[in-house]
Amino acid sequence: MALYSEKVMDHFRNPRNVGIIEDANGIGEVGNAKCGDIMKMYLKIEDDVIQDVKFETFGCGSAIASSSMATELIKGKPVADAMRLTNQAVAEALDGLPDYKMHCSVLAEEAIQSALEDYRKRNA
Ligand code: FES
Repeated sequence: MALYSEKVMDHFRNPRNVGIIEDANGIGEVGNAKCGDIMKMYLKIEDDVIQDVKFETFGCGSAIASSSMATELIKGKPVADAMRLTNQAVAEALDGLPDYKMHCSVLAEEAIQSALEDYRKRNA
């Protein structure tokens, strides 16, 4: 069996929603101290809905695929749904990740939570 699913390879080769949002109202950046990978997430939220989301990831293929899939899972969704997004859901949507690559999907979950937290602070 191949190490990575077709979906992982697809999102790694053709990542969705790469880039920055100039007028984002929620920005989060997280890193993994062990591997040194960094992920930055930009959210444009209006009426409690994620109207747009983009990311920049300096990291491994699984981190890029996880960021790409995570943005697809929350785009157009209510903020409350995005808050519930787990790294397991991201990994499942990618048809799985090898055990030792699960931390890459954690980075995606953390980046989104960090951007949502930033949004919450700005609107407090
Ligand atoms: Fe660090 Fe994948 S190896 S996020």
